Amino acid sequence: MARATRLLAFMSILRGLTAAARSNNTASSVKVGWIGDSPAQHLGTTFGLPWPQGKYQPDEVDFDVADGQTPLESWVTGYWRDGSIKWSAHAIPKTNDVTDGYTIEATPIVKGKPKGKPKGKPKGKRQTISLSVEDGKSEVTVNTGKLTISFPKEGRYIVSSIKTAGGKTVGKDGRLVLHSQNNIPDTADDRTDKAIDRSNFESNIEEVTVSEGNSVRALVTVRGKHTTTEGSDHEDWLPFVVRFYLYAGSEAIRLVHSITFDGQHDKDFISGLGIRFQVPLEGEELYNRHIRLAGTDGGFLNEAVKGITGLRRDPGEAVRTAQVQGKALPDESTWDTRVTTRLHWIPVWNDYSLSQLSPDGFTLKKRTKPGQSWVNFAGGTRSGGLAYLGGATRGGLAVAQRDFWKRYPTGLDIANAGSDEGQITLWLYSPDAAPLDLRGYHDGLGQDTYEKQLDALEITYEDYEENFDTPYGIARTNEVFLYAFESTPSSDTLAELNANAQEPPVLVAAPEYIKETKALGSYWGLPDTSTPAKAKIESNLDFLVKHYQKEVEARRWYGFLDHGDVMHTYDPSRHQWRYDIGGYAWDNSELSPDLFLWQYFLRTGRADVYRLAEAMTRHTGEVDSYHLGDWKGLGTRHGVTHWADSAKQARISQPQYRKYFFYLSGGDERTGELLEHTLDADKTYGILDPVRKVRTDGWRPFPGAPVAFGLGTDWAALAAGWLIEKLTNTAAGIAQLKNGFVTGSGSYLIEKNGTLRPPPTDPDNDGVVAISHLNAVFGMPEVISELLEYWGDDGAPRGFREAWLDYAYYYLATADEQRARYGASFSGVSLRQAHSRLSAYYAAVQGNATVAARAWADFGRSDGLKDTQEFAAVRVGGSAVVHPVEEAAWLSTNDFAQYGLASIQNLAYAGDSI
Ligand SMILES: *[C@@H]1O[C@H](CO)[C@@H](O)[C@H](O)[C@H]1NC(C)=O
Ligand SMILES: *[C@@H]1O[C@H](CO)[C@@H](O)[C@H](O)[C@H]1NC(C)=O
Ligand SMILES: *[C@@H]1O[C@H](CO)[C@@H](O)[C@H](O)[C@H]1NC(C)=O
Repeated sequence: MARATRLLAFMSILRGLTAAARSNNTASSVKVGWIGDSPAQHLGTTFGLPWPQGKYQPDEVDFDVADGQTPLESWVTGYWRDGSIKWSAHAIPKTNDVTDGYTIEATPIVKGKPKGKPKGKPKGKRQTISLSVEDGKSEVTVNTGKLTISFPKEGRYIVSSIKTAGGKTVGKDGRLVLHSQNNIPDTADDRTDKAIDRSNFESNIEEVTVSEGNSVRALVTVRGKHTTTEGSDHEDWLPFVVRFYLYAGSEAIRLVHSITFDGQHDKDFISGLGIRFQVPLEGEELYNRHIRLAGTDGGFLNEAVKGITGLRRDPGEAVRTAQVQGKALPDESTWDTRVTTRLHWIPVWNDYSLSQLSPDGFTLKKRTKPGQSWVNFAGGTRSGGLAYLGGATRGGLAVAQRDFWKRYPTGLDIANAGSDEGQITLWLYSPDAAPLDLRGYHDGLGQDTYEKQLDALEITYEDYEENFDTPYGIARTNEVFLYAFESTPSSDTLAELNANAQEPPVLVAAPEYIKETKALGSYWGLPDTSTPAKAKIESNLDFLVKHYQKEVEARRWYGFLDHGDVMHTYDPSRHQWRYDIGGYAWDNSELSPDLFLWQYFLRTGRADVYRLAEAMTRHTGEVDSYHLGDWKGLGTRHGVTHWADSAKQARISQPQYRKYFFYLSGGDERTGELLEHTLDADKTYGILDPVRKVRTDGWRPFPGAPVAFGLGTDWAALAAGWLIEKLTNTAAGIAQLKNGFVTGSGSYLIEKNGTLRPPPTDPDNDGVVAISHLNAVFGMPEVISELLEYWGDDGAPRGFREAWLDYAYYYLATADEQRARYGASFSGVSLRQAHSRLSAYYAAVQGNATVAARAWADFGRSDGLKDTQEFAAVRVGGSAVVHPVEEAAWLSTNDFAQYGLASIQNLAYAGDSI
């Protein structure tokens, strides 16, 4: 609890503030269903549910599953301004039957009185579950009824043991492993004479915390750093946090594993990163020990440490069949004696290794022991990423990584399977691959002044500055699943479990319901194909999302760090995205593709959209932002590597990009932590001026001084994170600026609870006109719309709503109108299609059909993707490309994102005027 997210703490402050609002005493039920097909198995899930403002006060409502059988654990993740519940989170345990969804019933209760169940309602037999959590002095132990797992509070082992319900220890001494080296040879020739120091590390625990509640779900969070195992003088580094999610009745454990890079990019090269468990095998016959490694399409390698099939002499069919099926072999006395007398001549295969070094292929090899050669024997395209080691009588352990091949280079190793204690290692970064190289991709090209850097920006669109291309503070999160078994399971069972690990089942409320609550704004509506013009837009949106799904695959946007991101701009001459050209390469959330994907999911409920959005959110929140050091809370502008560009800004780490996933997932704790990292991003402004290279007003940052910052790219990003007092102060400041949002930037005072004053260029608030085309394309419309919803009719600082309406109206108004209102026309107006949604918003609020028509004109006939654009791809093949691709050379990710957002919001605000 020590680290319970500050964001939520902030929110709960509000609970006490309300006197005005009383809870709405009507019961209601909300249905949640699986995205995509119902899973074959359900091993425990957490999900989020939104509620309308004023409907339920916390502590005055009881949540249940309407079937009267499925246990439910509930808590609150978000509050409205009146203190009522905005988002609740719910956990359900493993269920034996998988239905197509659940109905969650909210029943008002009287505060302080014991919970009363509504009368007269037929209730079935409640599923009995047991989840016990023991928070001892030296260990935390959780028993799910199917397994017991213990977490030491100090030392090297993040897990000391995993026991089955039958009392078998199937995993122990679980630890994180890390290998690094201080150099990378430049060529193969260099390997012989260049000194390379290699270091090995394991986890070293610093803190273990346990969730409260724990009736259905327990969460154990283990934090620490990697510490050297061989007494080298390398200090502890690469901080980790591993979250273990355990559900009542479940034999599965979900791990969310996060690391933050705090090494030196030119001295600390990660050459292996993994999770390792010992698997006790003592007493199990070698021919009853089984290895299972996932191949493709639900396939498995099914082998035993000592194989008795395919031999010159046949032990008998029953014996052979049993071994392949993972069952204990019949007594040796029933075998052909020509086999039993010669068992000692059959090699024992101690070690297995699966390497997925590319998204296109894995290899398999095994050996009898170290010192003997490996035997290569199989391979395939994309491994399912699961390894099992265990015995027919002793039971065993399976480890699986979600998105295994998409996160290449990865690997699965089994070692010492013939000894008393075998070992499984899941490699999140394979030691068989070249080390992870986080160095800059060029040497600076002589750009040693701002002038040269700005000139270089003119050609490669890269905003370079020496020492800014640092990975110090970037992070990565992986999801891992563990399964404990009383005996070797069938490979069909493993395949079913692994299907869950690869695409964990997700429960979500229907789009209609989410929209009704307004908990994620009212700027989106449901798909509508009632007129040809609307149907065309729907079909265009569908094309966009499907095209990017195909591009992820066609362009292999995969890898340990890259998976989840997309490219920024296409190069039609090469039929290739501009992966090697500065600011045109990795997108890093530029112009908010994250927002488009999440809003498109909200309106459609489509599983494929959810998965694309989820992968992007996991990437952009971690890899593209800093989580340590001076720039903690800031993100990096688009570039050839995710951290290369020197523009470090809050617009890229924008919490709004994380919010949808956070609330829908029932408050994913890692995402909550990322939101927390951005809360203090304002402090970085005292150190780093986001617009230092182009500033002409002479302002320089120093800690404690007022900070100059943009009202869109900076304020909107911070606003999404703070939501509370600093926010009201700064919003009031914006309202008091003579020209409101049109002022473009302000002076921000960190110390005074975040007060906003006029910008350095206009200390007396005479009114400057300085808009930026970027202000409204990094989440500002969404943030403000949600804020106004949150503040309600009377809560917004006086003048704030009007300031925003003015901005929404005048950005695309004529120069004459702008002059009449502000005394000057706006310069630098672009991204007109993107901004048409501001006009549409204005039109909706003011009920002005003329402005609605103007919105649609700017939407389809200005810039961006025009009404006349045919949304289609053409096949390019032959020697022109590495392999055939479906090309949409007319499409950039800026347009993908902003056409998407403008479509969704124009339809919601001005759908009747198209
Ligand atoms: C209570 O909730 C219902 C259903 O959401 C709504 O129709 C009604 O207006 C609400 N009443 C109050 C007093 O907020
Ligand atoms: C900051 O806000 C707190 C709580 O609202 C208040 O008590 C305090 O006086 C404020 N500080 C300043 C410097 O405005
Ligand atoms: C709508 O906006 C236009 C343009 O500003 C204005 O001329 C007109 O009077 C407005 N119409 C209404 C009904 O407010």
